[in-house]
Amino acid sequence: MLYIGIDLGTSACKFLLTDTDGTVKRTVTEEYPLSFPHPGWSEQEPSDWWNACLNGIPKLLDGFDCSLVRGIAAGGQMHGLVALDDSGRVLRPAILWNDGRTGEEVTYLNDMIGRDILSARTANIAFAGFTAPKLLWMRRCEPELFARIARIMLPKDYLVYRLTGVCSTDYSDASGTLLLDVKNRVWSPEMLSLCGLKQEQLPQLHESFSPVGTLLPAVAAALGLPEHVTVCAGAGDNAAAAVGTGTVGDGGCNISLGTSGTIFISSESFGVDPHNALHSFAHADGGYHLMGCMLSAASCNKWFCESILHTDGYAREQEAIKTERLGRNPVYFLPYLMGERSPVNDTNARGTFIGMTMDTSRADLVQAVLEGVAFAIRDSFEVAKNLNIPIPRSNICGGGSRSPLWKTILANVLGIPLDIVKTEQGPGYGAALLAMVGCGEFASVSEAAKALVEVKDTVRPDPDLTARYEEKYRRFREIYPACRELFPKLL
Ligand code: XUL
Repeated sequence: MLYIGIDLGTSACKFLLTDTDGTVKRTVTEEYPLSFPHPGWSEQEPSDWWNACLNGIPKLLDGFDCSLVRGIAAGGQMHGLVALDDSGRVLRPAILWNDGRTGEEVTYLNDMIGRDILSARTANIAFAGFTAPKLLWMRRCEPELFARIARIMLPKDYLVYRLTGVCSTDYSDASGTLLLDVKNRVWSPEMLSLCGLKQEQLPQLHESFSPVGTLLPAVAAALGLPEHVTVCAGAGDNAAAAVGTGTVGDGGCNISLGTSGTIFISSESFGVDPHNALHSFAHADGGYHLMGCMLSAASCNKWFCESILHTDGYAREQEAIKTERLGRNPVYFLPYLMGERSPVNDTNARGTFIGMTMDTSRADLVQAVLEGVAFAIRDSFEVAKNLNIPIPRSNICGGGSRSPLWKTILANVLGIPLDIVKTEQGPGYGAALLAMVGCGEFASVSEAAKALVEVKDTVRPDPDLTARYEEKYRRFREIYPACRELFPKLL
């Protein structure tokens, strides 16, 4: 039997075909544009995601016996607001997870409704990228469109909807809407009424591995698949990536260096960070997780190499960074190119280089970008440590984790070993595992992960380098507080 895992990302949709023993047979990537209609705004056309499926899935299956495909699931970029009218048409471009337009709504939710009340209802407070503040923004700024909303859903749910005609979501992704009572796994009636929504406008909630439907006949024909292929609910991309790296059950940790940078701590039981700096979300394995999310991680490196240095030679840029320079770079970079979520929650924060002199080199700046991202991941890691959550080691995945240098920097900035699994396609692989569970190949997500996920390599920290980075991190921590008051004046 064959399974398709979809990773609906921010820069591209990646498709993966695997057989029952977890061997990846083929991967296909379809890119699409990301639009920034105003500074700090971030949108995408849901039709681009769907076209990526229409193009990507036939390429994925070319030459394979399609009658063997049994299940599909997707892991998707979280929090995006997809709003449909009563004929199922998309009302406006999706407002994405890294969009910062909702500063006013976030202040209203956190300060007027109150953090304690939000946390009691949803286990989280408001962050600009979350879905509820976007709905409030739409109600305020686009009232005619808001009045026409018949359905809202999250990005990967839109793909499931186009594949099956069913409006569904899963608990992990629904957690990031600020509309879910995460602990009790139901939509919060208070949050719905606060946002002017009715229950019937929301998708049906499922476990990530639950089958939600089969392919619509016209879609099956367009993709070259049998109609009886099962589509499972899928998961938020971080929960899917955690499954794909075997970060399930109690005490696992996964770091993703993708467009966003996340640190994901899995747990069998529900728990909330008392300061709500870490998100408290449901996991795709039926449990829960805490997560810190920085908005620009591998995207900082992409921005610096491609937009500023005009090169896509990432490896060549990194080769110029000498080993003796690690932990000794006087240049620092604040990676807040889209504002920042965890842990500072500041839409006004901006990217910043500091510490340059006449002898600062191109390589120093590239290094500062890689280190700045690692330090910002450490910020969320510190929050978890202060909650007495032990993180003795972590898995790592995402595009940035393909860089040996970046993994070394991160392992030493955090002072823990980083494990790299054999199949590096985190969310896509995790989604395929969810489809396998939904189709009965395994009794549970943890059983699937145990059987199919294998660590192939570990990057260990070096005590001297860790000590040097410890000192650098102390300095890094002083930069944001020193700039915080200035950032809004720069807008
Ligand atoms: C998580 C988050 C990001 C997106 C990126 O809270 O916003 O990791 O899911 O795809």
